[in-house]
This record gives sequence, C-alpha cells and structure tokens, in this order.
Amino acid sequence: MTLTIRKPSPGFGLGLRTEHYTDFLGEPQPVDWLEIISENFMVPGGKPLAVLDQIRERYPIAMHGVSMSLGAADGLDRDYLAALKKLVQRVNPLWVSDHLCWTGIHGINTHDLLPLPYHEQALRHVVQQIRQVQDILERPLLIENVSSYVNFTDSTLNEWDFLRAVCEEADCLLLLDVNNIYVSSFNHGFDPLTYLRAIPPQRVQQIHLAGHTNNGDHIIDTHDHPVVDPVWELYTAACDHIGPVATMIERDDHIPPLAEVLAELDHARRITAAVHARQVA
Ligand SMILES: [Fe+2]
Repeated sequence: MTLTIRKPSPGFGLGLRTEHYTDFLGEPQPVDWLEIISENFMVPGGKPLAVLDQIRERYPIAMHGVSMSLGAADGLDRDYLAALKKLVQRVNPLWVSDHLCWTGIHGINTHDLLPLPYHEQALRHVVQQIRQVQDILERPLLIENVSSYVNFTDSTLNEWDFLRAVCEEADCLLLLDVNNIYVSSFNHGFDPLTYLRAIPPQRVQQIHLAGHTNNGDHIIDTHDHPVVDPVWELYTAACDHIGPVATMIERDDHIPPLAEVLAELDHARRITAAVHARQVA
C-alpha cells in the first residue's frame, strides 16, 4: 500500500556550488530551487552556514547527502543522522535525499557510492535501515540510484526490480538519476528504457541530470561535462513516463559560469514542455 505521496513539482533547479555563491546572493536567478550537499553544511557554524542562511531566504532548498551509507552492513551512523536532523531543522528543506548504496564499513568512509548486491537479504536490510532513517528524520527519504562499474555475482534481482521493491517496502520516494541509469546501462549492457519503465512514476520526487566521461568500453560518472544527447533522450522518455517532476543539473567538476548550466536547465524545461504538449494534444 502506498502511504507516502510525492509533493507537486517545484520546477527546475541546480546543485548549489561555491563557484556560483556570488550569483545566487546577487540578482535573482531563473531557478525554482537549489540542492545543497548536506555534508558541506553539517558544521557547527561559520561561513558555510551563514551563506546557506542567506541563500535559503532567496530559494527553496533540497538537501542531498553522500555519506548516509544506507546499505551499510554494520548499521547506520547515529551521530551522522543526529547532525543531519539538526541541519534539516535549520533548513526546512523541500526534501532530503541520499543514495541507495554503501560507502564503507567499520567507520571507514571510502567516499565512493558503492552498489549493493541485489538479493532478498540486502533488500530486507536496506528497507529496515531506510525506515529507521525516516523515523529519525520524521519525513520521507528520497533514495537515488547510483552509477556502477561492477556487479555482485550473487545478485538475484535486476537493479530496477530491487530499486522498485525498496521504494515500495520502505515507503520512500525516489531521486531518479537519469544519467546514472544511462551510465550503468552502458557499463553493464542493459536497456535503459527497460530500467526506466520499471520505475513507479508516483514515487519519483526528483530527477538528476549530469554529464560523464566515456572511455570507449566504459563510462565514468564524473559530472564534469554537459549532459549528452542519449541522456537527454532518456530524460524525454522519463518525462513521458513520470509526468512533471522536479529536475536539476548536477555539475561537480570543471564548473562553468552559471549561464552555461542555466542553458542546460533551459533545455530540460523545453523537453518537459514538449512532452507535456504532446501528451495533451
Ligand atoms: Fe545524481
């Protein structure tokens, strides 16, 4: 039974990066919301929080984490979750997200978003941990599909079936990274549309779009290039499947002037509008 309902889309956003602080603290920019990396602001005070306080007066904020390690076999980090909750209470975000992955074990953070084995035991474990997080944060969590380069040989489910089962059994929402679907489909040789069509549309609260590095026989999810045409095509299919959904561009390296990422965001707007026009025609 579906209990958690996604919020109406607030529109089109960008990941907030330090290179663009001045732009967002100056004249209003054509974005509907901004996404912050939660860990950058889980600090006792100082300049990061002062800047964040000014920016959140101007734009709605979504919080996106990279260190929750939801799939960790040795359990959740309670100190991390307490610090995250403190930031949630300060920011009052649109929503809070992290990745369907594990990032380390025994207190070691690899700073990599590592894929889980896709089988029943992992499913039970991660569902129970997502439920704990939602209880602690007192709000639904958005989980994001990661890019991957290896598979576990003991997986018994496809990634998309695992992801859907996690959402439904944990009653959480999805941050669907369309670029990550494309990257993993290239690396593992599956059809990205098969993945997309398995996603329950009503669970998708947000979409990520990003660029990557294609090394010929594999793709690395580097977030240092513009979004490529095959990912825009997959985004078009996603808009068709999901309907209007909050969409943003993630750029984490080789950060260009704000105008360049705003132009990419406009492309997302045009695709969404064209899909909608086609659907109502
Ligand atoms: Fe992402």
